[in-house]
Amino acid sequence: MDWDNVYRWEGKALIPQDGQFIRLREDKSIEVPDNPIIPYIEGDGIGPEIAPAMIHVVNTAVERAYGGSRKIYWLELLAGDKAEEKTGNRMPEETLEILKQAIVSIKGPLGTPVGKGGKSLNAILRQSMDFYSAIRPVYWLGQATPIPNPERVNVAVFRENSDDVYMGIEYMPKAENTQKVREFFLREMGVSEYALPMDCGITVKPMSEYKTKRHVRKALRWAIENKKKVVAIVGKGNIMKATEGAFMNWAFEVAKEPEFEGKVITEGEPKDGQVLMVKVITDQMLMQLVLKPEAYDVIVTQNLNGDYISDLASALVGGPGFVPSGNIGDGYALFESTHGTAYDIAGKGIANPLSLTLSGAMMLEYMGWKDAAELIYQAVRRAIGERLGTPDIAGGFRRMGQQAKELSTMDFAKAIAERV
Ligand code: NAI
Repeated sequence: MDWDNVYRWEGKALIPQDGQFIRLREDKSIEVPDNPIIPYIEGDGIGPEIAPAMIHVVNTAVERAYGGSRKIYWLELLAGDKAEEKTGNRMPEETLEILKQAIVSIKGPLGTPVGKGGKSLNAILRQSMDFYSAIRPVYWLGQATPIPNPERVNVAVFRENSDDVYMGIEYMPKAENTQKVREFFLREMGVSEYALPMDCGITVKPMSEYKTKRHVRKALRWAIENKKKVVAIVGKGNIMKATEGAFMNWAFEVAKEPEFEGKVITEGEPKDGQVLMVKVITDQMLMQLVLKPEAYDVIVTQNLNGDYISDLASALVGGPGFVPSGNIGDGYALFESTHGTAYDIAGKGIANPLSLTLSGAMMLEYMGWKDAAELIYQAVRRAIGERLGTPDIAGGFRRMGQQAKELSTMDFAKAIAERV
């Protein structure tokens, strides 16, 4: 941080003085200045190791692509362990306020203590700016993988982020409330005791037309812009007709909207500039991803299915350590690594920084700084092609009988930056 170059914002955060916030236009598109302020949350566990690695690579790529005419002004915001230590609060109000003000930001993993109070910080963040689509582009960079010909994997998973069983409407087995809900179903709705026995727990799975359609529109726009061909609408619609079935039907209604006329087809061969929308049942998709991953370019699905599918897709290319992600709403976007805090290796300097670094590249693309993003993708491919990497990457190559050079988190980031 250049300390001469900051001023205090409402007496709290240190906002870089030469930077400017990204602006959200009325049509929800973003206006990015050449000197944007980008907030970042380091994250817990390995966060303090991978965040500086990401920043180093992103800064190098921006400098290389635009020769000083564009520059990111990074602004650290507190959340998680570091925030608790400094402020006594794991998610200070100020962090949420500035994230909103800045529109586009990036974060490392945040730990969710198991079995003790408080809502997941990730859930607070996702809901605070209504990041309704989680996007995980999964592609192979040259690392060791569990499947042959991993170059066949190039699929973007669009997971709906604001609906489904994640809304937390839950009734625990035998609790008083559960009996009330149960009685309602038995007495008023004619549901049988067999379906809802005395000792059952109940989780509610809401799914709405409005939330589904805005998510599907985002995925279709992305598919068209990125010249993708096949978009699969995935769900278990044959069993959960009122939710996942409805989701699939609403998706096909979106395809008929004037905006997509001539661009989205639902049968036949897509021509240049067109995408083909198909329906695939979830279990079929899980199987297809392993057997024939090249069949689909984009998967559009609900929250819970998206969770499973994106992890399976990530595993095909070596695990979440190699895959970036973005949480996107109406203009607002928060990019993040897909793995957790990896407390078991924290502080050892061996964490793989790729997921967060590639999320940084994805953020640059979102900002329209595509040349800088492309430099990062190429540099990562080069570094891995030379079999350089953190112990998990090097270990993967060794298991395939190939030699590899093991580097620390920061040295790997430097090796990537040298290849930008
Ligand atoms: P985890 O992803 O932290 O760790 C699983 C395994 O993968 C561990 O052996 C770890 O060492 C390894 N690993 C993960 N990231 C790595 C990296 N970059 N380089 C090398 N090895 C890596 O998953 P776990 O243990 O289930 O979760 C730990 C904590 O992280 C929990 O509190 C969980 O809630 C949180 N979490 C946060 C997420 C987020 O902030 N988006 C996402 C997933 C989990």
